[in-house]
Amino acid sequence: MPDKIDRYAVFGNPVAHSKSPFIHARFAAQTGQKLTYTAERVEPGDFENAVARFARNDGKGLNVTVPFKQEAWQLAARKSARADRAGAVNTLIIHDTDDYYGDNTDGIGLVRDLTINHALDLEGKSILIVGAGGAVRGVIEPLLGTGPASLTIANRTKAKAVQLANDFADLGQIVGCGLDEFGGNSFDLIINGTSASLRGELPPLPGTLIHASTFCYDMMYAPEPTPFMRWAQQCGARQVVDGTGMLVEQAAESFRIWRGCTPATAPVIEALREQLQLETESR
Ligand code: ATR
Repeated sequence: MPDKIDRYAVFGNPVAHSKSPFIHARFAAQTGQKLTYTAERVEPGDFENAVARFARNDGKGLNVTVPFKQEAWQLAARKSARADRAGAVNTLIIHDTDDYYGDNTDGIGLVRDLTINHALDLEGKSILIVGAGGAVRGVIEPLLGTGPASLTIANRTKAKAVQLANDFADLGQIVGCGLDEFGGNSFDLIINGTSASLRGELPPLPGTLIHASTFCYDMMYAPEPTPFMRWAQQCGARQVVDGTGMLVEQAAESFRIWRGCTPATAPVIEALREQLQLETESR
């Protein structure tokens, strides 16, 4: 009998445009690992059954994306400390048909993109993160781990930002506020963690947030600059980037957890940027 090939997938809804199969196929080729990785659309209410079916059919690991990250957190009986704290799981290791381990690689993906790929030293810096949803919760602990002077969470619904800041107050200097409460302060790093870019929207932010050496980061990835990126450019930010690197870095950490080897991310980030560009041009 031929050896069974280990199966991996990303579960989400919608998931058709996921770039994870593209990324993991390149990681597998680069490291000589035999595996398959597909994008699977899961219907609401079917997540637990879909994971169990996948586990029975040679499934070894899953990435989990919107809207199932909280369900994956509940499903995983054992979790890493970072996933536990994030309240969300984006990576499942399937040990057995009913034995799943949960991890969250989003935060480390963001931090590696910022500190390694973009060579930012965040120690002693002032960081502003806009948004207070699940995506932001997942990155707070690793961001605080870089030793910033302060982390400000600003959100349209102020109460959510204040709650998040309270939840992580033991880990560092962190405050929550509304979008109109900056009091003329500017920041060294501004991260857009809202879902506004998905709809081509821009959170209402004052230009005074940006000074001549501010670095601006949109956690969303896109072939064209997002409204947040265009705003940051117009306000004179030193550098403005999207989340393509974060996407590849979180995938690399998942791959390492599953396969025990670390792929090189730079060539895959470049290939993904080219792919996104091609897809835009052919539209
Ligand atoms: P995700 O899992 O992507 O974080 P979410 O939990 O629904 O999604 O959170 C979306 C975040 O984007 C929230 O912080 C939301 O602000 P509210 O809490 O006030 O809803 C923010 N957001 C979405 N669209 C926005 C917009 N047009 N302007 C400002 N903030 C926006």
